[in-house]
Amino acid sequence: MIHTRICDLLGIPHPIVLGGMGTATTAPLVAAVCNAGGFGTLGTSAFNAATLESEIAAIHERTNKPFGVNHLLFQIREDIFGVTLQARPAVAAFAWARKEQKLRDYFQRAHDAGCKVMHMAGEVPEALRAAEAGADILVAQGTEAGGHVGWMASLPLLPMMVKAVAPLPVLCAGGIADGRGLAAALALGAEGVLLGTRFMATREAPIHPNYKQAIIKSDGHDTVLTEIPDLASQRVWPGAMSRAQRNQFIQRWAGREWAIRQAATEVGNQVATARAVGDVDNAPLSFGQDAGLIDSIKSVKEVIEDIIAEAEKIIAGRLPSLLRRPT
Ligand SMILES: Cc1cc2nc3c(=O)[nH]c(=O)nc-3n(C[C@H](O)[C@H](O)[C@H](O)COP(=O)(O)O)c2cc1C
Repeated sequence: MIHTRICDLLGIPHPIVLGGMGTATTAPLVAAVCNAGGFGTLGTSAFNAATLESEIAAIHERTNKPFGVNHLLFQIREDIFGVTLQARPAVAAFAWARKEQKLRDYFQRAHDAGCKVMHMAGEVPEALRAAEAGADILVAQGTEAGGHVGWMASLPLLPMMVKAVAPLPVLCAGGIADGRGLAAALALGAEGVLLGTRFMATREAPIHPNYKQAIIKSDGHDTVLTEIPDLASQRVWPGAMSRAQRNQFIQRWAGREWAIRQAATEVGNQVATARAVGDVDNAPLSFGQDAGLIDSIKSVKEVIEDIIAEAEKIIAGRLPSLLRRPT
């Protein structure tokens, strides 16, 4: 068993968290992570108030374990946030605030509803802002991650953030798909890890099977930081880049961002159609560099058990074997 402070704080046996991901987390995936001893988080950006309410009810039908609900602050909607507060999940998770947004107001409302507050940051100043606003848990998200990211890599970002917000617990996100990543994150001071890409390549993930295969086939060297997916969806993020596979869709528009702006509605419709039929060449595919560490679709339970077993082996076997007494 690997036991950290986050296990006590969240009431979970294993320090592994599923990141809330817009279109990639639904009730079966969230509940599967909870039932396997991790902490599942539901992303909300694909839902309206009514569908979020029924998705949360579907999680309760599948598990009696604690879970979280994630909101992207820059586009937060009162009616949808209201559903989360009403549902009182164990954790209200936030990310990507605008600079002028008052984090304290959102965090206080979440606390008043009985939730713990988790905030994801790609930079130390943003983590400090969240800590000062009352966050209970920080997530250091490195640029290796899938989805929207900043510019700092996990390896330097994590220990800097751990030091800056001490004694608040910090989870490491970005580039972690196996027990080696968990052991490394713990060595750098994390209390646990938050995973996206690895959980997308599971049987329970709600993404198209072709998308899962694309993750498996990727060697991890084929992603880029790009604004093209956001130009196609006409959604401007506050300072984020999107890590997506350099597939035909991205190559078609790279260097011609002005043209995608011009044809955004048409391109948006084409992307929606491609997504629906699993055409992985003609839609943006967001996943992290750790796709290169993923070579099979597993159940969520297998993913969590394998990560823990591998990390335990490293911590109990390889690392102690490196120590030598001075002669
Ligand atoms: C397809 C996709 C969608 C995501 N959507 C969200 C989101 O809505 N909110 C959020 O806080 N993070 C989101 N993320 C980021 C994850 O929470 C997490 O930080 C990231 O996946 C960790 O890196 P990894 O993919 O290397 O495991 C998303 C990631 C991906 C791949």
